[in-house]
Amino acid sequence: MFQVIPSGETLGASVEGIDLSAALSDATVEAVVQALGRYGVVRFSSQSLSASDLKKFSACLGELEINVIGAFQEPGHPEVMTLSNIVENGIAIGLGDAGQSWHSDMSYSNVIAFANVLHAIKVPQRDGKPLGATEFCDMCAAYDGLSAELKQQLEGKTALHDFNKFWEMMRRRPGNTRPPLSQSQRKAKPPVSHPIVLTHPISGRKALYANPGYTMRINELPQAQSEQLLQFLFAHQTQDKYRYVFRWQAGDVLIWDNLRTIHQAVADYAPNEHRLMKRCQVMATRFFPVHA
Ligand code: SIN
Repeated sequence: MFQVIPSGETLGASVEGIDLSAALSDATVEAVVQALGRYGVVRFSSQSLSASDLKKFSACLGELEINVIGAFQEPGHPEVMTLSNIVENGIAIGLGDAGQSWHSDMSYSNVIAFANVLHAIKVPQRDGKPLGATEFCDMCAAYDGLSAELKQQLEGKTALHDFNKFWEMMRRRPGNTRPPLSQSQRKAKPPVSHPIVLTHPISGRKALYANPGYTMRINELPQAQSEQLLQFLFAHQTQDKYRYVFRWQAGDVLIWDNLRTIHQAVADYAPNEHRLMKRCQVMATRFFPVHA
């Protein structure tokens, strides 16, 4: 038996009593999916997962993405990616600056993401306190917080998302070493459009589906009006009242619902304060099947 303990905040719950390295029954997987739909961000503490365990658990939630950057993949398990600031013999072992600004995973993709599964192996600490938190904002609450007039204005509109927007924004940061995306990477992930309001497939609630990291424009509006509305929405959706901060402990596995949340990794640690995470990204094909 396991227990789901809500955080009491806008997002977040802890699940106690599941060993994610064990084979999970269909009923347990369904309970995890429902918990994710209800709380948006779900933590499992004290886990010890190999790359293969992490992939096996993540695959219970849906089809897995192999990240377009094609680097820092676990040998034999390309669906598992290493995120880390650790450098060994002058070589980075992971993507050092992943997710360090507000975004929703894979909104740039034709098949959008359902869940992100992140396993903390090393968490930086200073004065006994964990660093490198992940912050989330609740896009159902943000949608609910829009005026009736704005909700009406957004109905039926679509937004354009582009992987290159986030990539180039990171490249402009001082000292960043990301190379420009290659032609083939850009071809693999061309800009795509999605409705700007999603009906959440589990809860039935409406969610604002736009994010500062990848959203370029609202297709149906003239450029200037689109820009003005997006700037408003980006400020609206990241307000403190929609925010939930997750502080990691080594051994945590955190899953979050990308249909309901946007997130950012907080880079408040130094190069010698090591953070090491293993990540799988679960696509939303269980809700939005892709037709050939
Ligand atoms: C991500 O955005 O996928 C990474 C988040 C994190 O490392 O906290």
